[in-house]
Amino acid sequence: MSTERASRHRTALVTGASGGIGKGIAEAAARDGWHLVLSARSTRDIDAFAEDWRRRYGVQVTALAQDLSKPGGADALFDAVMARGIVIDCLVNNAGIGVYGEFIDTSLDEELAMLRLNVEAPTVLAKRFLPQLVERGGHILNIASTASFPPGPFLAVYYGSKAYLRSWSEGIAEELAPRGVDVTAFCPGPVRTQFADRANAKRSALFRAGHLPDGDEVGRAAWQACMQGRRLVVHGALNKVQVFAMRFTPRTWLAKIVRRVSRPV
Ligand SMILES: NC(=O)c1ccc[n+]([C@@H]2O[C@H](COP(=O)([O-])OP(=O)(O)OC[C@H]3O[C@@H](n4cnc5c(N)ncnc54)[C@H](OP(=O)(O)O)[C@@H]3O)[C@@H](O)[C@H]2O)c1
Repeated sequence: MSTERASRHRTALVTGASGGIGKGIAEAAARDGWHLVLSARSTRDIDAFAEDWRRRYGVQVTALAQDLSKPGGADALFDAVMARGIVIDCLVNNAGIGVYGEFIDTSLDEELAMLRLNVEAPTVLAKRFLPQLVERGGHILNIASTASFPPGPFLAVYYGSKAYLRSWSEGIAEELAPRGVDVTAFCPGPVRTQFADRANAKRSALFRAGHLPDGDEVGRAAWQACMQGRRLVVHGALNKVQVFAMRFTPRTWLAKIVRRVSRPV
């Protein structure tokens, strides 16, 4: 079935949709005719492009402000969607942040907030929305990372959060397949967005590579993988080769390699 036919009258909820990869995913969905519920801490940036998308793609766009790193934030977002009588057919768990630095130096409060955003919020949102996703045959798209595969010195808690997201995603994908819900774990490598800046990781060698894809390109690929019902996708040829090679590399070597490529320069 074409994505256009499959998407008629369907609605996607995208977290972290005000910029970067989330905005790319949301625009790809709008182009396919999906109505949107877009969330971020502030809806200012979403309001700026929502009107254009309504006109250009003929879709409904609802913007909801919610901080998903706050305790109860994910439940508050679910309640806000329910209060508007909107039924969700595709849940996109995209919002996420990193905290860069050696674990002994980084802020525990920031890392706990990151875990609520990167781990707890996707888990809560999936739990809450699953009954309606099962009823109508829906999708969950989890934006993990190539960071989900190796240990991650300098971003150790972030790498751990993405390892959870990928593993959990693959686990529920197997459970939910017979119930008609596709679950995709999409794993980008470094992407040119606000992420590195916000994680204080701009000084990391990881984000100084020559050409990095932008959020639109990665968002389009993530949406396509979701619509194809794929369970695990690593974005980009070089990232695919690297992730494949990790299977044959001892974990202690991997940790040393990641330490080297992530070090401050
Ligand atoms: N960029 C990369 O190199 C890269 C690589 C692999 C995976 N990823 C993953 O891709 C996803 C998107 O990242 P990105 O690169 O697009 O980053 P980004 O440009 O920083 O965008 C992050 C989005 O999340 C929202 N957000 C941040 N904190 C939030 C909070 N507490 N509550 C609700 N929303 C929040 C932001 O909006 P507000 O600030 O308005 O809330 C924004 O819309 C993340 O899960 C990230 O881990 C990124």
